[in-house]
Amino acid sequence: MRRLLSVLLILLFLPGLAWGERLVCDVSAPVHAISDTLYGLFFEDINHAADGGLYAELLQNRSFENEDLTKPSAYQHLSGWQFNILTGSNGAVSLEDAAPLHENNPHYVRVQADGAGYAFQNLGYGSSAFRGGICVSPGERYDVSVWLRGEAADGCVEACLTNRAGVPLSDTVRFAPTDAWEKHSGVLTADCQAEDACLTFTVGNAMTVDVDMASLMPQDRVGASWPGGGLRRDLVEALRALQPRFLRFPGGCVAEGSWVWDNLYRWKDTVGPVEQRKENWNTWGYMQSYGIGFYEYFCLCEELGALPLPVVGSGVLCQAREPYEAPMNDAELDAWTQDILDLLEFALGGEETPWGALRSRMGHPAPFDLRYLAIGNENWADIYFTRYEKIRAAVKAAYPDITCIVACGPVADGSLFNASRGRILRSFPEDTVDEHYYMESSWFLRNTHRYDAYPRSTKIFLGEYAAHEPAAGGRRPNNLYSALCEAACLTGIERNSDVVVMCCYAPLLARLGMDQWTPDLIWFSGNQVVRTPNYYIQQMFSAALGDQLIQSAMTDDSGADVKEAAAGLYHTASVTDSGAVYIKLVNVSGQEKRITVQLLGGRHPGDREASALLLAGEKRAVNSLNQESVAPQELPVVFREGEAEIVLPGYSAAVITLP
Ligand code: AHR
Repeated sequence: MRRLLSVLLILLFLPGLAWGERLVCDVSAPVHAISDTLYGLFFEDINHAADGGLYAELLQNRSFENEDLTKPSAYQHLSGWQFNILTGSNGAVSLEDAAPLHENNPHYVRVQADGAGYAFQNLGYGSSAFRGGICVSPGERYDVSVWLRGEAADGCVEACLTNRAGVPLSDTVRFAPTDAWEKHSGVLTADCQAEDACLTFTVGNAMTVDVDMASLMPQDRVGASWPGGGLRRDLVEALRALQPRFLRFPGGCVAEGSWVWDNLYRWKDTVGPVEQRKENWNTWGYMQSYGIGFYEYFCLCEELGALPLPVVGSGVLCQAREPYEAPMNDAELDAWTQDILDLLEFALGGEETPWGALRSRMGHPAPFDLRYLAIGNENWADIYFTRYEKIRAAVKAAYPDITCIVACGPVADGSLFNASRGRILRSFPEDTVDEHYYMESSWFLRNTHRYDAYPRSTKIFLGEYAAHEPAAGGRRPNNLYSALCEAACLTGIERNSDVVVMCCYAPLLARLGMDQWTPDLIWFSGNQVVRTPNYYIQQMFSAALGDQLIQSAMTDDSGADVKEAAAGLYHTASVTDSGAVYIKLVNVSGQEKRITVQLLGGRHPGDREASALLLAGEKRAVNSLNQESVAPQELPVVFREGEAEIVLPGYSAAVITLP
C-alpha cells in the first residue's frame, strides 16, 4: 500500500513539499552523438533458445539424428519418441541408415506394423511441470508433415494430436507412402486445450514404412515461408518489443565449438532445404536442428529491423574449455577463411555468385544488410590474435567496408583482459572490441564509470553482459535489484556511447526446466513468456534512445553535487534530432527520492505534457509463470516552465519522455 501511494505520487507537481535532488538537463548543450546501434540482442541456442524455443518446431528429435557427441548410442537417436503405444500390436521399430533421405540426415526409423497396426508418438519438449510438452489450444491449426517411404502401396499412415495414452485431441490426416522418399503434409485442428500433447503416427495396416523428418508447427507463426519453417510468434513479439538495432548470432560458445572440432558451428550445414541440413551436437548438451540457420537468422534480422552481427569461429576452439584440440594449422585456417568469405558472399553477393545464388533460391534475391563480422568469441593470446589477423586480412581484402569485431577474452578485468586490450590497441586499433562480463550486481555499480577513461577512438561492443545476485545452488539469480544495477551501468554506457557503440544482454532466452545457464533475460514454457525485470530495463532503455547525449547534473538540496554511488542515484539525458527529450533515472537505494527535473535550453517553455515509464518493486522481486510482480507502469508527467517534480520509490528506474 505504501508503495502504491508512492507510485501515485510520482511525477505530480506538489509545491510546498521538501524536494531533495535537482537534476538539471541542458537541452542546448549536446555532448556527443549516441550510437544509433547501441541496444541490440544476442541470440544463441543455449537453454533451448532455438530448438524447443524460438524455432516453431514442436517436435524434438524430429529426424532421429539426436546423438550426444560425448556418449553416442543408438538410444539417443530414438529419444523424444515413444514407440508401440497400441495394446495388442506386435509391430516393431528399428533405427536404419541405408539409403537415407539425404546424406546429411542419415538416420530414420523403419516401422513394421502387423495386422493390429503400430502407433508411435513424439512427445515434444519440456515437461508438464512447466506446461509443455506440446501445448495446443482448441481451434488452433497445425501444419504437420513427415517424410515416408513404404513397401506396400496400399497402406496408410495417420497423424493425429493425442495425449500420451493415444486419445485423440484433434482430427486425423492420412498419408499414403510410396516406394520413394516423399514429404507428406496436412493440417490438424486441435479440439481442446492440452499442455502435454503428442503427435501420434499410426501405421494402420500390416506394412513396412520408413519414417523421417516429422514436423509439427502452429500455423500462427512468423516466417512460415522461410525454408526452416518459421518462428514462435509470442517469442518473436517479445524480441520485437525490445527494438533491437542489431542481432548477434549464433554464439557465444556455440559459434566456436567446445573442446572438439566436431561441433564448431559451420554455417554451410545450416542452409538449404531443412531436411538436408546437417544437425550438430550443441556445446550446451543437446542437438541443434539448424531449423534456424543462417538464412533464417538474416530474415529474422529483417523482421526485427536489426542489423546482423554474425560471429564466426577464429580457428581456435573455446579457450575457456580445456582440454581442447590443437588450433587450426595454416591449411585448415585457409579453408576455414574461405568458408567465412563464402558466408559474406551468401549475405552480400549478387545472384550470379554461387552463394548469392543459394540465398536467392532460398527466397531472398536481394543481399542482406550485413555490415559487421565478429571473428572469435572470448578468445585471447597469440594463438588467437595471429589467426584473427589472417582471417581479418582476407575479409577486409574482399569486403573493405565490413567492420571486424575482435574478442577481448572471457573476463572484464585483470591481467588476461589487460593483455588482450593492450594487444588489440596496438595491432587492431580500427576494430571494434568485444567485451563480456557476467558479474555480481555490486560490480556493475562499481563500473558505471568504466568507459570514462577509454581513448575516444576505441570502439567497444559489449557483446555479453548480465548482473546477478550471489550464486546459490549452482544458480545465479537475477531480480529487480540486478536489473537496476544493469540500468545504472547503462547510464554510464549511454554517457560513453561515443566509445561503446553496441551492447547486448546475455543469454536472451531460456526454456523453463531446460536451461544450462543463469541469469537469463526471457523465460518461456510451451505456451507462455516470462519477461524478467532485466527485460523491462532493456525495453525501457532501448525505446528511449536519443541521438545526442546532453549535459545533465544532479545536486542535492544544499546545492552540492550528488555522488552517484553514495546516493544510489544514476541518470542520463539525451535528445533526438526531432527534439524529443529522454531522461533516465535509476534509484538502486532503498530510499524514496524526490527529484526536481529542470530543463534548460529555452526550447521547452510553458506547460508541457510528458510521460514516464516506471519500474519499481521489492528489491528481490522476480517474475514467474503465474505472477508478473514487476512491470513498467505508464505515468503522466507535466513540466511547468521547464520543471517537473518526481518521486522515485526505493529500488526503481524511470524513463521520462518529453515529445
Ligand atoms: O552467454 C552464455 C555464454 O557465456 C556464451 O556462450 C559465452 O560466450 C559466454 O561464456
